[in-house]
Amino acid sequence: VDRFVIGDECEILVGPGLAAGGDVLAPRADRATVAVLTQPPVATLARQFARTLRGAGLRAEVRVLPDRDAAKRLAVVEEVYAWMNEAGMTRADTVLGVGGGALTDVAGFVAATYLRGVEAVLVPTTLLGAVDAAIGGKTAVNVGGKNLAGVFRHPSRVLIDTEILAALPTGLRREGSAEAVKAGFIADPGLVALYEAAGLDAPLSEVVRRAVAVKVAVVDEDFREQGRRAVLNFGHTLGHAVEVAAEMPHGHAVAVGMVAAARVSTLVAGFADEERVRRVIAALGLPVAAPPGLDPARIRALMLLDKKRDPSGLRMVVLTRIGEATVVRVDDATVGAALGAVGIG
Ligand SMILES: NC(=O)c1ccc[n+]([C@@H]2O[C@H](COP(=O)([O-])OP(=O)(O)OC[C@H]3O[C@@H](n4cnc5c(N)ncnc54)[C@H](O)[C@@H]3O)[C@@H](O)[C@H]2O)c1
Ligand SMILES: [Zn+2]
Repeated sequence: VDRFVIGDECEILVGPGLAAGGDVLAPRADRATVAVLTQPPVATLARQFARTLRGAGLRAEVRVLPDRDAAKRLAVVEEVYAWMNEAGMTRADTVLGVGGGALTDVAGFVAATYLRGVEAVLVPTTLLGAVDAAIGGKTAVNVGGKNLAGVFRHPSRVLIDTEILAALPTGLRREGSAEAVKAGFIADPGLVALYEAAGLDAPLSEVVRRAVAVKVAVVDEDFREQGRRAVLNFGHTLGHAVEVAAEMPHGHAVAVGMVAAARVSTLVAGFADEERVRRVIAALGLPVAAPPGLDPARIRALMLLDKKRDPSGLRMVVLTRIGEATVVRVDDATVGAALGAVGIG
């Protein structure tokens, strides 16, 4: 088992079979009730946790939320608050979120806001959730815009069971690999090499451990995204625009965005490994170009919108070499070259 900590508030455990016994909470004397939030494909696992918790003398109730981003809505959150209130939950109690990134985002939001904050414990069950969404304390719901409302607040514990991840269908594993290889591109050449050598068959526990280590290190340095944390957005400026315009899965869109960002890196940061970035992404079965027919003007507009309303204009994360990232301002011509690199325009 590998153990990471962020500050003194968040403990992240990574290992095989960690969740199997259902013993997922750090012991605490004053905890009486656990609200277990989950999504349909992993509801059985969540119920198993609830049984184990009851066996340990706690009250545990399970609520299955709508799948995917349908759970990240204020209407759903309001129902969950009412349900927790009826169960008499107090500030000493715990929200346990079991599921992919959408579920852990909303579970984290509920925990951060119910009674102004109760403990959250997360068990991510997708690769994307394990290496990205569940770590770092960003919680969110969608309000018109994606992730428009949220709170920065760490879970007390994240339990990553690599056996659950090893059983994922290929599609979900591929999608998560985009965020995992992103961690390699920005901070860990060894992680890129693992994917380079074996594609999607790269040893999963090592991939997860390394990707988690990157995210933990970056978040620990800059929790509220004042500076350094922005490097985690590598591939995301164009990626989010493509995700919205082409309705692609997040991981696929980020793959396209990383190819575009690699071109920008060549142009403005002296990056020499653009072709290698493209090759690794292609070897994972992820797209290296946007689907045909996207309107470049719309993509540019979406990119500007995505910049977290940064008043200083459009900025992008670029690589200076594999494993080293920095943020630069980009002009119109450079954005045009980025779009061209993935077939937009
Ligand atoms: N908070 C953050 O920092 C952060 C970072 C990245 C992404 N996100 C969010 O994460 C979400 C995307 O992550 P995701 O793809 O994990 O989300 P998801 O929760 O929508 O999961 C994707 C699908 O996998 C299913 N699933 C979950 N576990 C499974 C399992 N073990 N076996 C089979 N199917 C399973 C889910 O039910 C869902 O249908 C988005 O909402 C995104 O905004 C948040
Ligand atoms: Zn992402």
